[in-house]
Amino acid sequence: MKILGINGSPRGERSATLRLIAAVLEGAKEEGAEIDLVNIIDLDIKFRNACSACFQEGRCVEDDDFPGLYEKIKGADGLVLGSPVYIDQITGQMKLLIDRMADGIQCQVLSGKYGCSVSTSGDHAEQEVVKYLNHFLQMLGATPIGGLGVATGKDPDALIRSEEDARKLGKTLAEAIRTRRQYPEIAAFHERFQKKFEAVITGEKPEWPGDYKHWVDQVWVW
Ligand SMILES: Cc1cc2nc3c(=O)[nH]c(=O)nc-3n(C[C@H](O)[C@H](O)[C@H](O)COP(=O)(O)O)c2cc1C
Repeated sequence: MKILGINGSPRGERSATLRLIAAVLEGAKEEGAEIDLVNIIDLDIKFRNACSACFQEGRCVEDDDFPGLYEKIKGADGLVLGSPVYIDQITGQMKLLIDRMADGIQCQVLSGKYGCSVSTSGDHAEQEVVKYLNHFLQMLGATPIGGLGVATGKDPDALIRSEEDARKLGKTLAEAIRTRRQYPEIAAFHERFQKKFEAVITGEKPEWPGDYKHWVDQVWVW
């Protein structure tokens, strides 16, 4: 079982968000997961340029670190997304990655996989960021099993105290993957989403042959 953590903070190793992600991964490791961690700031990930090659060809043609990271993401059984709050939202680094993965929504690339999200803030919007990141995971087809947001500015010990909660979140993530835990509300969302995209993908077949082929390969349309 592979679980990949992705940190959207530009502060790299000094990042408070990284501490939460690392604690989630530690908990997952205690449950037998093989863990890996990526700081987006260490990679060369360019802005999405709206070329739509991914929709047409089923692959990214940009020569940067995104295609390699995308393969890693698709090869994981679980994802842990983390971003600090920057002006009430995720960081630009995390948004760059999310925009580059738009094709993953249409192709439901994380279908059958699990994930969770964490965020740290000075004093507000950390829960909104957790909600947004989990929503993104869900749109990719994954099942978010929970999240953790910590306002570090309100209480200097908040981060240390939250690391235990983060470890528990990691254990829950690994257990959910191992037991293929079912979350009926999320399954209902995926069913609605799949129906909506079946119509979109079929309608756009001439413009998006790459995505259409993926749906045929998955036997979602025939
Ligand atoms: C550019 C910038 C914008 C920020 N915006 C917010 C904000 O809107 N709300 C908030 O509570 N904290 C905000 N913060 C504080 C960070 O979210 C907080 O320090 C966070 O824990 C940093 O995480 P990191 O160490 O993982 O980068 C901001 C910090 C920076 C540098």
